[in-house]
Amino acid sequence: MAKVLVIGSGGREHAIVRSLTDDADVDHVYVAPGNGGTGAMENVTNLPLKDSTDLVAFADREEIGLTVIGPEQPLVEGLADLFHQHELRVFGFKKSAAQLEGSKSFAKDFMKKYAIPTAQFEVFTSFRKGFAYLQAQFNENPHNKFFIKADELCAGKGVISASTLEEGRLALKALLLDKCCGTGGKVVIEEALPGQEASLFALTDGSTVVTLPPAQDHKRALDNDEGLNTGGMGAYAPAKIVGGKVYERIEQEIILPTLMGMEEERISDCGILFFGLMIDPKGKPYVLEYNVRFGDPEAQAVLTLLKSDLYPLLNACATKTLEGSVAKWHKGAAVTVVMAVSGYPTEYNYQGEEIMGISKAEALDDIVLDHAGTEHHDGKFFTKGGRVLGVTARGTDVAAARKQAYKAVSKIKFDGMHYRKDIAAKALE
Ligand code: AMP
Ligand code: GLY
Repeated sequence: MAKVLVIGSGGREHAIVRSLTDDADVDHVYVAPGNGGTGAMENVTNLPLKDSTDLVAFADREEIGLTVIGPEQPLVEGLADLFHQHELRVFGFKKSAAQLEGSKSFAKDFMKKYAIPTAQFEVFTSFRKGFAYLQAQFNENPHNKFFIKADELCAGKGVISASTLEEGRLALKALLLDKCCGTGGKVVIEEALPGQEASLFALTDGSTVVTLPPAQDHKRALDNDEGLNTGGMGAYAPAKIVGGKVYERIEQEIILPTLMGMEEERISDCGILFFGLMIDPKGKPYVLEYNVRFGDPEAQAVLTLLKSDLYPLLNACATKTLEGSVAKWHKGAAVTVVMAVSGYPTEYNYQGEEIMGISKAEALDDIVLDHAGTEHHDGKFFTKGGRVLGVTARGTDVAAARKQAYKAVSKIKFDGMHYRKDIAAKALE
């Protein structure tokens, strides 16, 4: 029986913890720092640790069998490297491979080098040269649309779309001159691709992969994909857009060349590859971005479909023994609705409000709740953050799961509550 340490505090980490606590080989899960939901679980302990040295010391002292690093920031900063240096078993890419998420220009150059389909792009360090490029592009075709991306991690705020030269100028100014994301040294300008997005996760030990059912996220804050871009307001899996033929193309044209490229660059590693995909109207898949962790809230939906134990899969990645592993999945679909505070993602009002109805929602069939911004004290839950809860239902199909998820959502109330009413609606069209 193993003790597992999970690093992170979001809904994604709650879903990972929830999955691990069901596993036969796991006797206790520690979460650093965790959230109100993980803190209230049996056989789970929240740890108020954030500092990497403390985390390593804890894992060493407590003989943790496996540490799972949830979010991108510690991966990009090299937390997995530190665990390796101390000969502690860890699931998550080292700094060298985490650059696939940590630097947009690194990822785009990598894709270009290994002929992995992605949008046309240019990299700029100078506002003047970036602006001249956009000017030439818009002169050639005024209907062009571009995405201007900060090179560095920026908590989802580093990607700005531009349908006019003026929007492009403002984006370049924000990222390169006002340095609103990190050091602001570099941007990628890329053409907009048409199509539907999907998120595909692949567990890897560096040479083998096990892919998870594809998911679709809902990034905008409001119904009908309006409002600001958020971390994700809901998700469902499996995503219909990734049918058999499209999946085969993703495997051949994206997953295998990515693994080969990583090997060639000597950055093959154990962890998760998250392919942020655009599937064009002809069914051709493109990579919009690589991430090196589970998506949030996609993980909540996808892990709810996992029938096999999660621990053996993650452990097989960490011990480079993934070959031959098979993940079994529940039939049907899972739908996750995120309940946030109104104003998210820019304003975080309504903190400390009591959340009512959690146990009523959890009492419904096929429902699980993953907490994100919650606090637990005196036997009650309170809001603390932008995204508060993820409500996930599993059902025989998307329609059934969706109906049950919204039934559970209707039991929950807190002041300032906001959620989208159209999660997975497109999948039913
Ligand atoms: P990224 O972080 O690079 O995935 O970009 C964030 C979001 O911006 C994506 O999920 C898409 O919705 C959108 N996006 C980024 N790049 C493109 C592109 N080349 N074409 C269309 N949409 C894009
Ligand atoms: N839901 C998208 C992400 O986790 O990046």
